[in-house]
Amino acid sequence: MKKKVVSLLLAATMVAAMVTGCGNTDTPAASNNAADNTVADNAADNTGDVAADNASDAADAAADAAGGDLADKKVGVCIYQFSDNFMTLFRTELENYLISQGFSASNITIVDGANDQATQTGQIDNFIADQVDVLIINPVNSSSAETITDKVVEAGIPLVYINREPDEAEEQRWEDNGWDVTYVGCDARQSGTFQGEMIVDLGLDTVDLNGDGVIQYIMVEGDPENVDAQYRTEFSVKALEDAGLEVDCLSDQVGNWQQGEAQSIVANALGQFGEDIEVVFCNNDAMALGALQAIESAGRTVGEDIFLVGVDALSEALEDVLAGTMTGTVFNDHFSQSHSAADAAINFINGVGNDYYIGCDYVKVTQDNAQEILDMVK
Ligand code: BGC
Repeated sequence: MKKKVVSLLLAATMVAAMVTGCGNTDTPAASNNAADNTVADNAADNTGDVAADNASDAADAAADAAGGDLADKKVGVCIYQFSDNFMTLFRTELENYLISQGFSASNITIVDGANDQATQTGQIDNFIADQVDVLIINPVNSSSAETITDKVVEAGIPLVYINREPDEAEEQRWEDNGWDVTYVGCDARQSGTFQGEMIVDLGLDTVDLNGDGVIQYIMVEGDPENVDAQYRTEFSVKALEDAGLEVDCLSDQVGNWQQGEAQSIVANALGQFGEDIEVVFCNNDAMALGALQAIESAGRTVGEDIFLVGVDALSEALEDVLAGTMTGTVFNDHFSQSHSAADAAINFINGVGNDYYIGCDYVKVTQDNAQEILDMVK
C-alpha cells in the first residue's frame, strides 16, 4: 500500500553524451495531483497526512521508548555518488536528522559509491561484516536492488532504499516475504508533469517564439537507468501534449545529472538548432544551471527568446528563477525524504515496521513562490 507523507517543511508552513533520441516510451499514466501549484495548495492536499503523522509519531515514540538506545545503534548509509549536488543536500540533512533523533555521530557511517556499483557492493559487504543495525541505501544501479536486498535480508539487517526506486517486482518481493525493506522517495512522474505544466501555463503565444504552432524543445536527461530521469523525460512532454500542444523534439541527450555535461550538450544543440529551440527541459537543476551557462554564452535570454526548466530547487536555481534567468523548477523535498528515511530506519530498529513504499510530494516552483522555497532551503 502506498503512503503519502506530508512534507515536513510544508506542513509547518555526450557531446560525449549518448544520444537517446526523442520520443515517449509507454509507461502507466501518472496518478498525481498535478494541478497543485502553490506551497499552500500542496500543504492542503496531503491526503495522507494522518498516516504520515502517525508514522512519524510512531518513530518518535519508539525513539523515546528506546531511550538512549539509539545512541548505540549503528547506521550504514550508502550514497551513489558524493559529488551529486542533490544527494549532498540529502545526506547532510539525513545525518543531522539521525543525530537529532538520538543516534551518535560516531555510529553513523556514510560512504561514497563513486557512481560504481561494484564499489558500493563492497561497501555493503563491509557494513554487513560490521553488523550495522540498519542500512540506508541510494543504489548506484536500481537494477542491482534484487542482489542487494537478498544479501542484506540474509544478514538480518533492515533496509531503507532512498532516491532511486527499485522496480515494482522487487518491491512486491519485500511485501510477499514480509521483509524489513522499504523505499522512501517521490513519484518522478509528478515532477515531470509539473515541468511541462509550467511551460503550458505560459501559453502557446508566449512559448511558440517562431509562431509555427509547434513547441520545439530539447531534453537533457539524467542517468537513463534512473526512473527519475525516465519519468521526468516522459511526463514533462506529456503535459504539453495533454494540454493539446504540438511538440517537436530537436534533441534528447544524456547529461548524467551533471552541470558540465549539460553545458556542452546545450551549447552544441544551440549551435546546431539556433533559434529553433524554444524550450530546454533538464531532468535536474544541476543540468539546468549548465544549460543556462550555454544559453547565456550563445547570447540568448531566458524568458524572452527561450524557456528553461529544471527539478530539485537548488538554491542557485531558485535565485535564477527569482531573477527570471530560469523559467521554473520543481522542489524535490530532501528534508521530507531524509527525515522519512530516518524515521523508517528507527521504526525497523524498534520492531515497529513500515509500509513498503513511503512517498512525498514535489512542489512546482515559479517566480511566485521561489522566495518562499528559498527561505526554506537556505
Ligand atoms: C535528483 C537529481 C539527482 C538524482 C540522483 C534525483 O531525484 O533530482 O538531481 O542527481 O536524484 O539519483
